[in-house]
Amino acid sequence: MQNFKNVVKSALTKKSTEELVSASKHSELKKTLNAFDLIILGIGAVVGTGIFTIVGIAAQGGDGGIAAGPSLTISMVIAAIACVFSALCYSEFASMIPVAGSAYTYTYATMGEFMAWMVGWILMLEYAIGNITVASAWTGYFMQLLKGFEHVLPNWLVNPPIWLINDYRSALAICNKEGLNPHDVMPYIAGIIPVSINVPAILIVLILTLLLVKGVKESTKAATIMVFINLFIIISFIVVGAFYVKPDNWVPFAPNGFEGIFSGAFIIFFAYIGFDAISTTAEETKNPQKDLPIGILGTLLICTILYVAAALVLTGMVDYNMIDVQAPIASAMRMVGQNRLAGFISVGALAGLTSVLLVYQLGTTRILYAICRDKFLPKGLRRVHRHNRTPYILTWLSAIVVIVGSLVMDLKISAELCNFGTFLSFIIVCAAVMILRKTEPNRPRAFKVPFVPLFPILGILMSGGLMFYSMKSLTTSSLWFIAWLIAGLWIYTCYGYAQKRLEDKRKEFYSNKKY
Ligand code: ALA
Repeated sequence: MQNFKNVVKSALTKKSTEELVSASKHSELKKTLNAFDLIILGIGAVVGTGIFTIVGIAAQGGDGGIAAGPSLTISMVIAAIACVFSALCYSEFASMIPVAGSAYTYTYATMGEFMAWMVGWILMLEYAIGNITVASAWTGYFMQLLKGFEHVLPNWLVNPPIWLINDYRSALAICNKEGLNPHDVMPYIAGIIPVSINVPAILIVLILTLLLVKGVKESTKAATIMVFINLFIIISFIVVGAFYVKPDNWVPFAPNGFEGIFSGAFIIFFAYIGFDAISTTAEETKNPQKDLPIGILGTLLICTILYVAAALVLTGMVDYNMIDVQAPIASAMRMVGQNRLAGFISVGALAGLTSVLLVYQLGTTRILYAICRDKFLPKGLRRVHRHNRTPYILTWLSAIVVIVGSLVMDLKISAELCNFGTFLSFIIVCAAVMILRKTEPNRPRAFKVPFVPLFPILGILMSGGLMFYSMKSLTTSSLWFIAWLIAGLWIYTCYGYAQKRLEDKRKEFYSNKKY
């Protein structure tokens, strides 16, 4: 019984905010980012698959879903409101504890080591597993772009075999849909193990990894170019598309009433995921107390304005029933005869997805960096490159996770897992803000969430509602999610817990020696 009590006591050990802040002061990472860089990183992380693809599924309903129709604009505002409560909580923490590690670090200061490790583990779903989805989607757009140059490029490049541009499950789904025999389409090792490799996805992950190992400033420079292309394309769509809006298309505004609006909000939530990635770069920010809240809230505001305007124009240009679910924005332009702009939109989509990939890879490594520093994973993994001062081992490790994942994991499952991870981390951060207000009421907070506890509670209710709403129907990914949580528990029990106790003993030894 005493043993059990000791285990519980240890698992609840918190890291003091002083300790966290002092660790960040001795950080080996280079401090180069300002508020502008953070907003660029934020937009780079947020604007991607959601606005270029998922917007069509949410408006039109997709395969058996409930269409939001023109009321998608309201869905977008609801999704933004669900995010804003969490964004405010992230901002309060980021301004108070500007340490790499995001929600993981905040949990360590409020709920203790076990919950902190679990949150770090859950965040891997949002970042690393989420990137598997984006990498797979990247291949889709890349192949679309190559098709645009059909007349100049060789056929083997434009129309490669299915098994070279898909993971096994997707290749199998294509075979089933088109009535093909998988044995005719894919090579089989020893006649039993099918081979299907998403080569473009792997190549883009490798290229971005090389960039990230080179340096975070270099990576943000590349992200800046991609974000500007991306923004230019979306703004062009809004401005040019506005001339083709037929107000008749907005009637009926909400064809499926509240059900359509809420279903749309749930689906389009994916488009907002990513603003929290900014807080993972806290140790590389010059003036984190001021710049992190500006970065987080600025990103959310800019994206909401763009998304609502794009949804209004899209549903005004095309009858919601006719919206293309694969490339909604580019197709809308094609439908009104703007073929050249439609081609540019594919380039913008590719730039958007590339920047999401880049920022998520960056986020994965920075969270792992904080986790290794706390010894939940081997400390040697966080070694920093002597010249570039980037955590190169972790950067390559994150790339390997995405590459292996893109070989074996289903795109849909990885996207749903990413959503679950995000919901849960939002809920925990909202709860953590309330806890720290009680336990450390006098700690200076450069930014404060207004109306505490109302706003954090609303954040918990909205994220929790969306999470349980989706868990009910998505049984496969719910089971994967539970399996992921059990795996996290197992790693903590077998490795992290023992390492932390060794650390406690070491600390005790040195403090006894002092006196
Ligand atoms: N918000 C990101 C995207 O839409 C995840 O791709």
